[in-house]
Amino acid sequence: MSTGRGIPEEVIEAVLRQHDIVDTVSKHVHLTKQGKYMKGLCPFHSEKTPSFTVTPERQIFHCYGCGKGGNAIKFRMEIEGLTFPEAVRIMAEEAHIPYEDKGRGYGDSPRNQELEQLLQAHEWSSKLYHYLLKNTEYGKPAMEYLKSRGFTDKAIDTFQIGYAPARWDTLVQFLDKRSFELEAMEKGGLLSSRQDGSGFVDRFRDRVIFPLHNRSGKVIAFAGRVLGDGQPKYLNSPESKLFTKSRVLYNLHQAKNEIRKTGQVVLFEGYGDVISAWEAGVHNGVATMGTALTESHAAILRGMAEEVLVCYDGDSAGQAAALKSIPILEGAGFHQVKIALLSEGLDPDEFIQKYGAERFCHQVLDGAVSSVKFRLIYLRKNHILLEEDGKVAYIKEAMPIIAALTSPSEREIYLKELSADLQVSFESLKQECNELRTAMQKKADAGDNKPERWNNGRHKKGQASMPTLLPAFHAAERRLLSFMLQDEEVSRYVGERLGTNFNIEDHVAIAAYLYAYYAQGKNPDASHFISSLHDERLEQTVISIAMMDTPGEWTTQELDDCIREIQKVPLLEQIKRKKEEMVSAERAGDYMRAAQIASEIIALERQ
Ligand code: GTP
Ligand code: MN
Repeated sequence: MSTGRGIPEEVIEAVLRQHDIVDTVSKHVHLTKQGKYMKGLCPFHSEKTPSFTVTPERQIFHCYGCGKGGNAIKFRMEIEGLTFPEAVRIMAEEAHIPYEDKGRGYGDSPRNQELEQLLQAHEWSSKLYHYLLKNTEYGKPAMEYLKSRGFTDKAIDTFQIGYAPARWDTLVQFLDKRSFELEAMEKGGLLSSRQDGSGFVDRFRDRVIFPLHNRSGKVIAFAGRVLGDGQPKYLNSPESKLFTKSRVLYNLHQAKNEIRKTGQVVLFEGYGDVISAWEAGVHNGVATMGTALTESHAAILRGMAEEVLVCYDGDSAGQAAALKSIPILEGAGFHQVKIALLSEGLDPDEFIQKYGAERFCHQVLDGAVSSVKFRLIYLRKNHILLEEDGKVAYIKEAMPIIAALTSPSEREIYLKELSADLQVSFESLKQECNELRTAMQKKADAGDNKPERWNNGRHKKGQASMPTLLPAFHAAERRLLSFMLQDEEVSRYVGERLGTNFNIEDHVAIAAYLYAYYAQGKNPDASHFISSLHDERLEQTVISIAMMDTPGEWTTQELDDCIREIQKVPLLEQIKRKKEEMVSAERAGDYMRAAQIASEIIALERQ
């Protein structure tokens, strides 16, 4: 079977055979045996009691806390930030599995080759720029500039900072000599076309170069800063096949381990901030690329941490951006969103240069406030609190923020602060808050179908925990699939009687894949089966089904019961529709038609 990713199926099979899930996971997680399972603390989210489970028998892992799950390949992808082909390639090499890597790519589709070429070119260019900065006369002024700003040699190496000379053809020559296609390099953002169309010139000239990496540490774009003042301050690579601003975070490749370990990520606005903070010992910092934070950014980070600390510039633009980031981060499901407050309008980099690492960590990071507190501080600045009108207006804007909090003690804390701050009695504030809560509740109940709209996004959707009570047919479908995953005979039995007539769309797909899987003569193997799916959601569903505690033994009686439960659903729906039709026929006075539908209903009910 083709995997759709250009990797031979046999390679994937061999990789999974050679890399035992327990061995793979044990390198990162301390596992203890509990019956059929091994348990440990989840490496993908921070937790105090183990909800991370490995099932040796099925060669899969699953975390009941964050919902992540899969086979050994998936584990390596997640923990090391690799793509599927990267993980397979590395794991094949480790196990000395012969794996013919055609050309530069995985498989030799033209698209892959083009991407590989572009990655190579970025890698080479990044090395060139770094070399020019450190070792040549060209790089001297840039080096002096960086030194004057407090960049150390160590930071310059760690972040592979470079310099693009003030010439038109440094990179053009360099890439041309190495037989890269210049046109492709222009499309990929490394070069620009000449205005008159007569060839190519370097895109970055006389700029300090910050390479931007993807999650697995490959250079995918550059940001070039002018030396000193000048416009534009930063010139970035354009969006390309490799680089999508809305999804890339600066320094994520180096910070990801620390982010996972601490369960916290620090979010900055600028490259300089990330680098200075790194030198100050903050190794879980990342930044967006001069664009506003997007939902994709937030989702990527949420996959690694539960807490985010927003550390934007202290000026009004930075604070406004921090405010805007709050709903995005809370919407992504972070358990805690904190905001750092920087004095004197400084940015984190400037603060560290001026006051040192120690004060940055203790005053700025440790002193970060909750998102609610930040909103209140932000609002407060807009009002003149010496005047009664100002106080009233401030309370009016602050109250919805406090009233939306679900925790009574949290509400009380903020109301007390507000009371002390404004010298307004706590009782009256509390009453006002309660009235507002009641009104909000009513509005929500009145049914815009979003009863949790005002709750700050604290209750999150999307966690893969299963609802405790599934409709009978849903549970029956999961039960059947679970038997089918363990036993080909069941799959054949169900295939003949039910086919793909499951009611849940994902179950239809899983059944179809499973029939195809067995048809190729494969043995029951959940871990192997999921690697043939190539669909994140289906994979997670299969994992959660494979984790069900169904006994290895089954009876046809039991299978038949499940099948009947499943087949009932479309019939019941049909009956419901017919009944509605009958009512409307009666209303329209068409009694002949109504009687005919009634007999159809009886026939359906008999079935
Ligand atoms: P330094 O002045 O070198 O310390 O940079 P900074 O990071 O402090 O810059 P600033 O606070 O002005 O901007 C924050 C981030 O916005 C930068 O790191 C860039 O990612 C982005 N940015 C700033 N200016 C520009 C620009 O002119 N063009 C582009 N594309 N991005 C910019
Ligand atoms: Mn700065």
